[in-house]
Formats: sequence, structure tokens, C-alpha cells
Amino acid sequence: MKLLDNKVAVITGAARGIGEAIAVKFAEQGASIAFTYVSDSSAEKAAALVEKLTGFGVKAKAYQSNAADFAQSETFIAEVLKEFGAIDVCVNNAGISKDNLLLRMTEQQWDDVIDTNLKSVFNITKQVIKPMMKAKSGSIINMSSIIGIRGNAGQSSYAASKAGIIGFTKSIAAELGSRNIRCNAIAPGFIETDMTHYLQDGAGAADFLKKIPLGRFGKGEEIANTSLFLASDLSTYITGQVISACGGLNI
Ligand code: NAI
Repeated sequence: MKLLDNKVAVITGAARGIGEAIAVKFAEQGASIAFTYVSDSSAEKAAALVEKLTGFGVKAKAYQSNAADFAQSETFIAEVLKEFGAIDVCVNNAGISKDNLLLRMTEQQWDDVIDTNLKSVFNITKQVIKPMMKAKSGSIINMSSIIGIRGNAGQSSYAASKAGIIGFTKSIAAELGSRNIRCNAIAPGFIETDMTHYLQDGAGAADFLKKIPLGRFGKGEEIANTSLFLASDLSTYITGQVISACGGLNI
């Protein structure tokens, strides 16, 4: 018996990085996976991931859908329900950063980050709670960030979006706990993915490492393991919480 046998999981932005690691981990544990990617250039990667996931003996399908767009999110979830029949787990993982000091930040940069990171969580969660309420069961996992807890110079839009996710998570946990729907957030620290590749080498990286008690950057798989815990019945009494997976990062 695997931890996610017979479960269906939806994951946004899973063609690479942390989302991809979560998709692989969940499929290994028996879940069928419906995931999104956003740009045409990710179509090949998405198709390769579908092949990898089905190799675990589960059903998997990739959907091109912009999580920041309400109508596209509505269509995506409707199509998943038609194809998979249920949604047990939802991971709101899609995210971007457009870092800039506030003095230089444009309105467009602000809006892009808030729409992709925060509005997307509203867009998708609003759709998945309907089947979850019917099933009287569900686990929603929102990808926040340690930056959403602590803030960081040059990252005001990103920090605001990720802090917003935490408030949303706690509110949804309070609204839907009575329906046995859990909603939690993960606050990763510095994880080695494309999003952080420009920070992974050089003097900046060495400085950053000094602030991490575990002395290294995290791996996507480590966030996937935290996600697996929150998705599975190992965490049935946990809701409205933020789990920091950051190596003890202190900024
Ligand atoms: P990444 O850039 O490798 O992956 C992000 C994924 O989201 C990509 O596949 C991208 O295509 C997708 N995406 C972007 N906009 C989208 C949209 N509008 N609709 C659907 N998908 C969209 O980054 P990474 O590191 O894998 O990040 C995953 C999540 O983890 C993000 O929410 C990020 O903010 C969060 N996070 C990452 C940390 C890190 O150090 N890498 C630290 C803390 C949080």
C-alpha cells in the first residue's frame, strides 16, 4: 500500500523545478497526476513528464493553462474532473519572481507577480473545493516561501504574494475544516531550481549559505517530501499551518 494510492492530484506549474519533483514523488506513491504548464516552450518537457509519471503505473495528463487566468483555471479543473472523476489533492505551486527595489518596480512587474503567485491560488482553489466538498475530503497545499514570512529587500512583490498565500491558507482551513478539507502552506527556503539559478554560484551564494544552519541549498525532492506528508493521511490532523522547509534559513 502506497501513501497516495487511488488519489488524484492536481499540481500547477509542474513541467520543471519543485512542481516536477512533487509530481514524480506523488506518482511514485500511487497518485494519478493532472498538471499544468503555461508556455508553448514547455510542451515537450510536459510530454516527457507525462511519460515518466505513467511509468509508475498511474494516469497522468498535462494541461496548458495559465493559473493567473480565472477562466482558464475554471476550464482546467472542469476538464480534470471529466477525465479523472475526482480531485483529492491540490498543490498550488505555480510561481514567478520579478525582483526589484520598490523605487524601480513597475506596476506591471507588481501585477504579474501578484496575479501569478496569489490570484492563481484563489483561481484554482475556488474550483477544486467543489468536488472536495462533495467528497467530504481533500488536501490543498499552497507553495508560499520563507520570504513571505520574513520579507527581503528587493522582493516586496514576491514577499507580499507569498504572505498573502499564508493568510488565504489559514482562512480556507477555517472555512472548510468542517467538510474535512485541509489547507496548509509550505514555506521553502532556498531551493536549487531554475528560479534561483542566478544565485547558486559566486560570492552571493557563499554569503547566503552562511545564513543556512544546514549549510546547503535545498532540493526539489525535499519540498516534494514535505508535500507528500501534507497530501497523505500522515497529516490528517494538520490544517491551517505553514511548514518551513528552509534548512533553518535566517535572513
Ligand atoms: P520554477 O521557475 O522552476 O518553476 C515554476 C513553475 O511555475 C514553472 O514550471 C512555470 O512554468 C510555472 N508557472 C509560472 N507561471 C505560471 C502560470 N501563470 N500558470 C501556470 N504555471 C506557471 O520555480 P520553482 O523554484 O520550482 O518554484 C515553484 C514554487 O516554489 C513557486 O511558487 C516558487 O515561488 C516557490 N518557491 C521556490 C523557492 C526556490 O528557492 N526555488 C523558494 C520558495 C518558494
